Amino acid sequence: MKKIVITRNINPDIVDKLRKDFEVSVWEEDQKPMPREKFLEETKDAHAVLSMLSDKVDEEFLSNAPELKVVANLAVGFDNIDLDAARRHEVVITNTPDVLTETTAELAFTLMLVSARKVLAANKELMEGGWSGWSPYHMAGTDVFGKTVGIFGMGSIGAAFARRLAGFRSNILYHNRSESGAADDLGAKLVSFDELLSESDFVLCAAPLTEETKHKFDAEAFGKMKDTAHFINIGRGAHVVEDDLAEAVRTGVIAGAALDVFENEPIGADHQFVGLDNMTLLPHIGSASVATRNNMMNLCVNNIMEVLNGGRPITPVG
Ligand code: DGY
Repeated sequence: MKKIVITRNINPDIVDKLRKDFEVSVWEEDQKPMPREKFLEETKDAHAVLSMLSDKVDEEFLSNAPELKVVANLAVGFDNIDLDAARRHEVVITNTPDVLTETTAELAFTLMLVSARKVLAANKELMEGGWSGWSPYHMAGTDVFGKTVGIFGMGSIGAAFARRLAGFRSNILYHNRSESGAADDLGAKLVSFDELLSESDFVLCAAPLTEETKHKFDAEAFGKMKDTAHFINIGRGAHVVEDDLAEAVRTGVIAGAALDVFENEPIGADHQFVGLDNMTLLPHIGSASVATRNNMMNLCVNNIMEVLNGGRPITPVG
């Protein structure tokens, strides 16, 4: 019987689809990633792995798993995977595009509104008993309505975010290497990276993490933004030079930042962002609605079954 390793405790009803025809091993701990040693040990005779974005799929792992045919990554991003090594080992890699697009765009939109309107600071003040009464500029933030919004990475999530701006009469800019089909009918204008930074009141990073986009948002980039602008990141933490962002928010180079992703996750209460005014921080929950996570799991399982049964992967990458 072919063996499938699932590196996190996912929906058991979805896993059951595999149990009839395959031996399935599931890492039962919900919050903690499978330790690397265990991952290497468990997968050395595996034919398929359902991996998380916290699992490193690299040369060491691939050369240790000679039977491996497919790795189905439970994420649209696949920067945890060495695609060249996978190609060398003839291992199919799949991801979970489309099924998480709207959910992740919703979270990005939430971050923008929460940051603009100081929602977390206002909530914290009230909960801690610090609300002393109404006053004209108390917790006065900035409007999103009528502003310029710049999207770095106009893929399907960037476009879903842009569609939500229709009710806000926004001026939409985007930066991609070239014109994006995803931007058709959105009235969005392709601009240079510098123009995106200098013109936007809100800058959203929704790009995949690549060598080209890594650490793109550094002191120089933040320095080009308006001092009233907000930076939102739902891409990957490594798009940002975190020391530079902390400094930019601390010194008022930009007005605020709202982040769902960090370079080294999870971050703890001792991270330099924690406690900074005008920082909205979430624990990587972009695609975390129950329905979407179930859809992502189903897509991973279907990709695995296709490949192990000799068919074509549904959503291959690379
Ligand atoms: C992804 O799919 O890449 C997201 O970051 C997961 O929430």
